[in-house]
Amino acid sequence: MTDSASLFHVIDPRIFKRPLLDQLCALATRARSLSRTDQGARALHDLLSTRRAMLYFTQPSTRTFLSFSNACHVLGIRTSEIRDPSTSSEVKGESFEDSIRTFSSYVDVIVMRTKESGRAAQAARLMDGIPRPVPVINAGSGSDQHPTQALLDIYTLQRSFENRGGIDGKVIGMMGDLKRGRTVRSLCYLMKNYVGVRLVFIAPQQFAMEPDVKAHLDEHGIPYTETTRLADVLPALDAIYVTRMQTEWDTAGESRNVELSQFSIGTPELSALRPDAIIMHPLPRGPEIDPAVDQDPRAMYWRQERNGMWMRVAVLVKIFAAEDRIAAIG
Ligand code: CP
Repeated sequence: MTDSASLFHVIDPRIFKRPLLDQLCALATRARSLSRTDQGARALHDLLSTRRAMLYFTQPSTRTFLSFSNACHVLGIRTSEIRDPSTSSEVKGESFEDSIRTFSSYVDVIVMRTKESGRAAQAARLMDGIPRPVPVINAGSGSDQHPTQALLDIYTLQRSFENRGGIDGKVIGMMGDLKRGRTVRSLCYLMKNYVGVRLVFIAPQQFAMEPDVKAHLDEHGIPYTETTRLADVLPALDAIYVTRMQTEWDTAGESRNVELSQFSIGTPELSALRPDAIIMHPLPRGPEIDPAVDQDPRAMYWRQERNGMWMRVAVLVKIFAAEDRIAAIG
């Protein structure tokens, strides 16, 4: 298990323990603070300027790709990218393993998103068996896991509740397509690190949270309840994490059978939400959050996506063991 001492591959959120989560949040805040002055931004840009990163995103992405790309730019890391496999030698029949090994010949870290579950883990196992392994970061693997999204979600929750005792003791609702949403699956796996957290799953029955995640919560004594009725639970929530229907995984239009208005936040729902609660969403959004909600101070999703860049800066700083150097910047 990973403690606060070191970080190499980032594949499964279950490796993260509280000291490392707290350290990553502190690193993200440190980088954010340094970037506010030209001198600080230049020092950050020098920090990892001898490093190179491969951004291998063969499944669509806007913010994960851009936040990793810009996190690299913040730290001076030069980037290469493949976003369309038809432009790589995979079209000539090169295997996935040979492609990954080739990337590792040129760069110091591989950040990857794939449509298939388990590909990042496969790449990490490959790296562990070669003479020059480089770390692999899972930037979203199928409908399975999205660990750096979970880290930025933790950072957002921590910042939002920093004057209310942090994440410990909070009631966190997760709503939408919980069955196929990798962000909520990964976030659930981090909850074991916080004391007294309670989860409330609000989902259509056919898109309820999967048994493997519930078994993990049971194993770690994290209480959760499940409902299809948002109105019954909304007033009790400190945070509501809204997700879209993951229509890309439909095989026969299953998402169309959901009455989405029952799993949405609009201005009528705002009046039932606590004044100090927050609304999160990993984005991109569909109709489940009315754009009118954006004006409400409890809407945290745009700050959440920006937090993603700083958390990915923190992850890269930690992987390259530059935390002492960032602390020493004057
Ligand atoms: N939250 C998230 O993963 O967004 P993208 O799919 O745009 O990267």
